Amino acid sequence: MAKEKTIFSCTECGGTSPRWLGKCPSCGAWNTLIESVPDAGPGKNRLSGAGQYAGLAQAQAVMPLAAIEATEVARTASGIEELDRVLGGGVVEGGVVLIGGDPGIGKSTLLLQAMDALQRAGLPTLYVTGEESGAQVALRSRRLGLDASQVNVLAEIQLEKILATVEATQPAVCVIDSIQTVYSDQLTSAPGSVAQVRECAAHLTRMAKATGIAVILVGHVTKEGALAGPRVLEHMVDTVLYFEGDTHSSFRLVRAIKNRFGAVNEIGVFAMTEKGLKGVANPSAIFLSQHSEPVPGSCVLVTLEGTRPMLVEIQALVDGGGPSPRRLSVGLERDRLAMLLAVLHRHAGVACADQDVFVNAVGGVRISEPAADLAVMLAITSSLRGKALPKGFIAFGEVGLAGEVRPAPRGQERLKEAAKLGFTVAVVPKANAPKKPIAGLEIHAVERVDEAMTAVRGLD
Ligand SMILES: Nc1ncnc2c1ncn2[C@@H]1O[C@H](COP(=O)(O)OP(=O)(O)OP(=O)(O)O)[C@@H](O)[C@H]1O
Ligand SMILES: [Mg+2]
Repeated sequence: MAKEKTIFSCTECGGTSPRWLGKCPSCGAWNTLIESVPDAGPGKNRLSGAGQYAGLAQAQAVMPLAAIEATEVARTASGIEELDRVLGGGVVEGGVVLIGGDPGIGKSTLLLQAMDALQRAGLPTLYVTGEESGAQVALRSRRLGLDASQVNVLAEIQLEKILATVEATQPAVCVIDSIQTVYSDQLTSAPGSVAQVRECAAHLTRMAKATGIAVILVGHVTKEGALAGPRVLEHMVDTVLYFEGDTHSSFRLVRAIKNRFGAVNEIGVFAMTEKGLKGVANPSAIFLSQHSEPVPGSCVLVTLEGTRPMLVEIQALVDGGGPSPRRLSVGLERDRLAMLLAVLHRHAGVACADQDVFVNAVGGVRISEPAADLAVMLAITSSLRGKALPKGFIAFGEVGLAGEVRPAPRGQERLKEAAKLGFTVAVVPKANAPKKPIAGLEIHAVERVDEAMTAVRGLD
């Protein structure tokens, strides 16, 4: 097939130029020209396998919403429960998933396990590897104990060949590991460049929508932690998952950042073992450290990640600082910590202005919800006073600048989870106090920060 001429279009204004220029001739912006393939005109198909998108070209009749049949999306559960949870129930027909994560975190491992499970469930699968050879993938599958795996593997990085193979083999699910290694003949830019990543992902997405094949793209993460390649990639796909985890611990979290077929902020918890990633059904235990007796500076928080309440231990250390004390937090926002210290001083009379304050969420978990505020404050106060909180103690609640304690969403579920795991005392926002007592859980409902401090002192 003759190579088509490419154009360079500006990401700011959309202006085009036949060759690369440092400055956009239309809007004058610098470094915004990106190589792309000009839109194919009518009757022209720029992909091999002419006519494969012909069906899409036919105009659809306009219909009122009520007249359109709302069919449920067809999902297939992979059987890896934690992965299905973040996907919103399983792999969706024609859905495109982007999964990103640090190097070596386990993206290929998880996908190989998922593909094998789907293949065993009777779905034909295709694993396209651009980073490793077929032999390397085979070696991994043996280590994972997936002997006799029927997953089809293709070691290929050229988009047109990949599309042709997909069309020939007709898998139900196709993994591209990774999108950064795939390149299209139509562009002269190097694989991994913004132009290539965008163009290849767009083709694969169109292919998924036209054929109903589910596509899973593996994406690299930049040094800053964002998915490499253009931001537009995240808009193009249906689901964006991030693989997170502390390299020093064996626990890995898969978080849904965007999901057109399910809830976001749902997380899946895995443990990395020699035999691959194993789902952790009861993750609460990981994020609690194992003290036999309570220690000062520690407070257990019930946080809600997606649909599942989790117990996480917040640790604080307040120690004599110098003229410019440090405030450091791991797993929690630092700006929020500074704010909480100010509220603690003004509304509860607890001063740590001349002290270093360190706060850590145990187990490498990242907490973004404000319901952690009360637990952070109680941990700091406990460390400052050198007095442990009572045994079996939990807290949650958002704290405002006026010192008020605001309710957290779905407080009942959080309390029930804590009771189930054997916790006995809780300090919670007044609006979250349950109407009926929860067996085994003593509840102290508070409206203000100072009330919370008084309630805790009364528990000694
Ligand atoms: N024998 C082993 N025992 C335990 N864990 C292992 C073993 N071999 C590999 N691993 C784990 O598997 C990880 C590699 O997983 P994988 O190749 O799936 O990562 P990845 O996210 O695909 O990486 P990349 O970005 O390089 O493609 C290693 O970091 C290591 O933690
Ligand atoms: Mg890999």
